Amino acid sequence: MILVIGATGVVGRHVTAQLLEAGEDVRALVRDREAALSPQVKVVQGDLGDRESLAAALSGVEKVFLLTTGGPETPLHDANLATTAADAGVKHIVKLSIIGAEYGFSDLVSTWHLAGERTLRQVAARPGGPAWTFLRPGEFMSNVRLWANQIKTQGKVFWASTEPAVAVVDPRDVAAMAVTVLTTPGHEGKTYRFGGPEALTVAERVGKIAAALGRDIELVEVPIPALLGAVKKAGRQPLVVETTLGNLGREEFRIQAKKVLPVFAEVVGRPPHTFDEWLAAHLDIFR
Ligand SMILES: NC(=O)c1ccc[n+]([C@@H]2O[C@H](COP(=O)([O-])OP(=O)(O)OC[C@H]3O[C@@H](n4cnc5c(N)ncnc54)[C@H](OP(=O)(O)O)[C@@H]3O)[C@@H](O)[C@H]2O)c1
Repeated sequence: MILVIGATGVVGRHVTAQLLEAGEDVRALVRDREAALSPQVKVVQGDLGDRESLAAALSGVEKVFLLTTGGPETPLHDANLATTAADAGVKHIVKLSIIGAEYGFSDLVSTWHLAGERTLRQVAARPGGPAWTFLRPGEFMSNVRLWANQIKTQGKVFWASTEPAVAVVDPRDVAAMAVTVLTTPGHEGKTYRFGGPEALTVAERVGKIAAALGRDIELVEVPIPALLGAVKKAGRQPLVVETTLGNLGREEFRIQAKKVLPVFAEVVGRPPHTFDEWLAAHLDIFR
């Protein structure tokens, strides 16, 4: 039995679907029992902040896909899951982390994920502790959904840092990495940093959306504080966006983020999806 955490989210939905396709027995931890999931998934209500609910969800579970939000609660939620999983006799936890953890960035999101990783390593070192694998993907292609409303209503994209190029990754491929690691041997104690097949600037991504829609889209560069105000109004986590934008200004990030890495194809056995392929599957959100 594999427990999927974050099954209602962008990556977790794909993890769940791909595990079912692979014939695995899947349980999902959800906060809202009414969450729309495949009837083949066994749904368990719980919360990463509530250790009792985790103990119940982990009973009989062999492996876990661990998705925490990347917000300030991440270290505590990773620790809650790791310690309860150890008590429940779980064998392997696959944690979705972030690329910034790879180079030890001091930005908040990377720091929170690194703290979670550290706890998983400590718990694994206890007798019978669950093995870990850390997935450290780069920026998701799906982040461009933030622009959907602006494109639909104004034909414009307002963004702060339109450089550098980033090898953005399709969330389906993040899920495919997780599913490969959960269903094939030899991934315990490994960290995988990976991204997509081509490095694209914001301007290039906007250009591709415009071409696919067959209409012009104007890219308007705005100062970071103004962008953060808009993000906050839209109900997004400004701290996480601020971190992302802060990283874009780091020289090391600018060098690292554009690298096209062979890791995904080596682990999964096929090339990662292109941005055009992601776009073809999601074009309606911009119409
Ligand atoms: N976006 C990027 O470019 C990027 C790049 C690299 C890594 N990452 C990492 O990827 C992760 C985000 O993945 P995503 O975009 O798939 O997430 P998402 O779509 O925001 O989904 C978050 C999921 O976590 C669940 N959740 C939230 N709080 C919970 C709690 N207290 N207990 C149990 N479940 C809870 C949500 O369930 P509900 O339905 O109950 O809300 C939802 O299923 C973060 O760790 C982030 O740092 C993101």
